Amino acid sequence: MAVKLDDIVSLAKRRGFIFPSSEIYGGLAGVYDYGPLGVALKHNIQNLWWSSFVTAWEDMYAMDAAILMNPKVWKASGHVDTFTDPLEDGSKFNTMFKTSAGVGKEVSTTYLRPETAQGMFVNFKNVVDTFSPDLPFGMAQIGKGFRNEISPRDFLFRLREFDMMEIEYFVHPDKWEEAFEQWRAGMQTFFKKLGLHNVGELDVPEKERAHYSKKTIDFEYEFPFGKKELAGLAYRTDYDLKAHQEASGKSLEYRPKDNSKPFIPHVIEPSFGLDRLVLAILTEAYAEDEQGGEKRTYLKLPADVAPVKVAVFPLLKNKPELVKKAREVYKMLKDELGEVMWDDNGNIGKRYRRQDEIGTPYCVTIDFQTLEDNTVTLRNRDTTKQDRVKIEGSLQMLQAI
Ligand code: GAP
Repeated sequence: MAVKLDDIVSLAKRRGFIFPSSEIYGGLAGVYDYGPLGVALKHNIQNLWWSSFVTAWEDMYAMDAAILMNPKVWKASGHVDTFTDPLEDGSKFNTMFKTSAGVGKEVSTTYLRPETAQGMFVNFKNVVDTFSPDLPFGMAQIGKGFRNEISPRDFLFRLREFDMMEIEYFVHPDKWEEAFEQWRAGMQTFFKKLGLHNVGELDVPEKERAHYSKKTIDFEYEFPFGKKELAGLAYRTDYDLKAHQEASGKSLEYRPKDNSKPFIPHVIEPSFGLDRLVLAILTEAYAEDEQGGEKRTYLKLPADVAPVKVAVFPLLKNKPELVKKAREVYKMLKDELGEVMWDDNGNIGKRYRRQDEIGTPYCVTIDFQTLEDNTVTLRNRDTTKQDRVKIEGSLQMLQAI
């Protein structure tokens, strides 16, 4: 089924995933706010990224560098001179957002960071001095990036404020190719975990690569508006550390523990835009079918990223004995699984439709039979099939998804 962007935008708003920023004032181009379900979806993606690339690795050092940095960083990194997009009249336009820090004579112009990467390069020496890591090792962080895009468009695709998840992986200059391949494969595995099984790779030609890169792969996804970059993998050589060493006058060389000659490590950079992942996941998951003669819209989200893992319903909300039992089941599941929703609004059919639209993999309904034999109906989002299972059995089953 060809998914339309308008359908995704409308579902995202209707069901509380994503709203236009400051909407009551007419919004702001290229800026969106995440609502309750969008936040949950985004957190789940972040958590999966963090467990895949930070906690699972022995040699990864997490960072949370500040958004505002000394403006000399952006001069040295090349962003002041080259982070530009051409305007229609042929002039150059730098897409970094300028801001000022301080007051009176102390005021200085700085920028909102266009990438989180520089916060890691300027902390390279701090991490080496504190942890004495062996090469290769990586630094990783999740945080906001800002770009004053000339024409923000396509919902979450081209934003002016967005979340990035980046890794700077420092290697010996002779080892960059094997590290690059390792990360290429690792990124593909991660996309599959998110349910994105068809992410293409484009070897970016030299004239289209960023100023710091000697090799870049763009990971491309078929969005509703065409095949576009989802994430990138770049070989940044020693460009950044060398530039900061020269501009700051501080040595950023790595001293091998065997006392061999110090050198500046080279960098492999896997870089993910979190909002583009959200949009790709929503695109991949968006589905329609017919149930009982009526059109149904649902999100086939992988359970790992679904904002709600299971919803719990009492069959009727005006029967205290059913509500009491359903509350017990809800509490038990909530304590164990966390992302559990209570819903007693409207008839059961309407509740199923609402959960289908937000991608909840399972619904548990408590009815009169539950009071007699401690069984519930467990309904599968994709097949809409309902099974009668023991309450404890439903927990075990849900823990395994
Ligand atoms: N540090 C490397 C870097 O910044 P990039 O290709 O310019 O590389 C990395 O950006 C990722 O950030 C992109 O692959 C994309 O997912 C995301 N991204 C870039 N600009 C974006 C924008 N305007 N809106 C949303 N995401 C964006």
